[in-house]
Amino acid sequence: MAAVAASATAPTFTVGITHRGTSLPRSSPLGGLRFNSQNPLKNFCGLKASSSVTLESQLSFSGKETVSALRASFASKAQTQDRTIHYNLQPQASFRVAVLGAAGGIGQPLALLIKMSPLVSDLHLYDIANVKGVAADISHCNTPSQVRDFTGAAELANCLKGVDVVVIPAGVPRKPGMTRDDLFNINAGIVRDLVSAVADNCPGAFIHIISNPVNSTVPIAAEVLKQKGVYDPKKLFGVTTLDVVRANTFVAQRKNLKLIDVDVPVVGGHAGITILPLLSKTKPSASFTDEEIEELTVRIQNAGTEVVEAKAGAGSATLSMAYAAARFVESSLRALDGDGDVYECSFVQSDLTELPFFASRVKLGRKGVEALIPSDLIGLIEYEQKALEALKPELKASIEKGIAFAQKQTVAA
Ligand SMILES: NC(=O)c1ccc[n+]([C@@H]2O[C@H](COP(=O)([O-])OP(=O)(O)OC[C@H]3O[C@@H](n4cnc5c(N)ncnc54)[C@H](O)[C@@H]3O)[C@@H](O)[C@H]2O)c1
Repeated sequence: MAAVAASATAPTFTVGITHRGTSLPRSSPLGGLRFNSQNPLKNFCGLKASSSVTLESQLSFSGKETVSALRASFASKAQTQDRTIHYNLQPQASFRVAVLGAAGGIGQPLALLIKMSPLVSDLHLYDIANVKGVAADISHCNTPSQVRDFTGAAELANCLKGVDVVVIPAGVPRKPGMTRDDLFNINAGIVRDLVSAVADNCPGAFIHIISNPVNSTVPIAAEVLKQKGVYDPKKLFGVTTLDVVRANTFVAQRKNLKLIDVDVPVVGGHAGITILPLLSKTKPSASFTDEEIEELTVRIQNAGTEVVEAKAGAGSATLSMAYAAARFVESSLRALDGDGDVYECSFVQSDLTELPFFASRVKLGRKGVEALIPSDLIGLIEYEQKALEALKPELKASIEKGIAFAQKQTVAA
């Protein structure tokens, strides 16, 4: 991404955000952002996956021939990070993003975070509830993208036309005592109808599914797209970024590591035991006792329930989810913009295991998933290997449930 020098007379200042008395590192969320007094948001670097900027983690899943290219790319990034950078007033790219379910607990903060991206020219907000107020509010932020609101099914097609990335957090969240699977009956139909509209109006878009249970809603989306004849498995993603974000945070706390450096791949699915953090693959490498592995794994798997119970009936994770989803949007936009250095974990169609869908680290490119990264699954410790085998029956059942739902609907229709 080219940095363009701003007017020499325009004063710049650094926003000093402190956390427990320490300045946040430059690449952490909001920490180190340099603002220009005339240009409010030039460098939105907070949502970059740490795995995409550390050479160490690249080396773990790259062939020898790519290492020197990665080294060069890493060196230039490091140099860039060490300089004060001025960005111009223009958006750095002009992608269109739609959020479906934008009036909700996740949708609102997610829309705000996407509004901060310099890669977005148009932000379309859709909900069956009135989304005018959210759009009016967010549109006053003086960042580049234009915000438009679309309320109700009659406006859905217009919302989706010409869109590059569609993010779907529409649906009902969990209440205490519910599992993600309990949401199936309501959210399955919502995802089916929204993805059907995506197929009709922007079939080439990246589709990010947040609505739970992701282990079933992604297969439903795939079936709907197949029925419409527009399924591209490289462009359909279940958003599991929150599992990675939580794993990174909990491991950094436990091991007293610098949070921004920590990268823990999370594979499998996105519910209970199907969420499998691969702690043995933590970068920078860290050693864990058996008890720590058990405790951290269970905490990461149940972190959603931690939030559901703390909110005591008022919903599930919304703010951290919005942060995680915005990071995945930003990664997708960077990939669409030609950055050849974008890796994220996501629940996608996969042949890494015998299951048709599986969350793993993937390389993102202009056309979606460029490669599934198998190396994280090689050389697992015994605990992880057993957990991987144990999660397969549950994940398989959730995938089949989604497929059966979508196929039954076609027969009924
Ligand atoms: N993938 C993850 O990691 C993750 C994490 C947390 C929550 N979730 C899921 O995200 C979903 C949304 O959670 P939330 O807390 O924002 O819920 P919420 O109830 O606050 O918001 C949901 C929004 O969706 C809208 N909606 C419902 N049906 C719709 C339709 N047919 N078209 C458009 N919009 C529609 C509602 O009007 C509401 O504004 C839930 O399914 C939840 O389980 C996923």
